[in-house]
Amino acid sequence: MLIARTIQECVSFRKQLNNSVGLVPTMGSLHEGHIALIKHSLKQCDATIVSIFLNPKQFSANEDLDSYPADDAQDLKILKQLNVDCIFMPKQSEIYLEDNSIDVVENKLSKLLEGNSRPRFFRGVLTIVSKLFNICSPTDAFFGKKDAQQLIIIKKLIKDLNYNIKCHETPIVRSENGLALSSRNEYFNKSQKEIASNIYKSLCLVKASIDSGEYDVVALKKIFSISIQRIPELKIDYFSIADIYTLEEVVDKISSSVLISTAILLDGVRLIDNIEHVI
Ligand code: PAJ
Repeated sequence: MLIARTIQECVSFRKQLNNSVGLVPTMGSLHEGHIALIKHSLKQCDATIVSIFLNPKQFSANEDLDSYPADDAQDLKILKQLNVDCIFMPKQSEIYLEDNSIDVVENKLSKLLEGNSRPRFFRGVLTIVSKLFNICSPTDAFFGKKDAQQLIIIKKLIKDLNYNIKCHETPIVRSENGLALSSRNEYFNKSQKEIASNIYKSLCLVKASIDSGEYDVVALKKIFSISIQRIPELKIDYFSIADIYTLEEVVDKISSSVLISTAILLDGVRLIDNIEHVI
């Protein structure tokens, strides 16, 4: 297993490979959600590159870049056990030269949902993912449905910028109480994790209501907000019922497949989760 810390090392490694190469981009602090993606790549591809890069460009000044959980030694141990072929672990200065002045910007989908609350987020994500695509030249790339909007926009990146890369997606991995695994869960103690599990429970309540014939989005939004407001520690940033492909908000009644998504604040930590209703 190669640990490539420079772009040059990663590019040279890639050049030796002839068959399929899977890339799994991460920001480290690996958990079972990341591991599911990596195992999927190991199964699908002849070689797997996992990148670990805490990307400053996707954090705003008021966000948690400085405190974001990091444990390189533990991540390396996990990746060695999984037997990935290469870990690309560059420094910030390797990726962003001081005079860098070009970003990759998506102009439509990235303004919705997460983009409303985090205006520079997708610019940062698309810039780093494009750079990783260019450096690693993967044939396949792997992303999780936990970040559903990110996945949709990355698929658009691949299409609009003509990357010859097959995009694979994996379902959300959750802990037993339903809480979606996230590196940010590291901020929480056991009782906070229990409180946070009400996010998924509330999403499930909405889905169950749809399944039993409630299609009116105003009623469904009310069901969600009442369920969340029962828990004083949880604050809703947004709750959305949107078309699963275009991410356009459903305004009246659900009549096609939807992405039901939310961002919730718990003690200053922002958590996202989603559930699909497929017709
Ligand atoms: P990060 O949050 O580390 O996530 C890396 C990948 O793991 C993403 O594709 C994400 O959707 C997936 N993932 C995270 N938690 C998951 C879960 N519980 N179940 C399934 N998949 C999960 O997403 C990023 O990093 C960054 O934005 C990145 C794409 C690496 C660009 O910097």
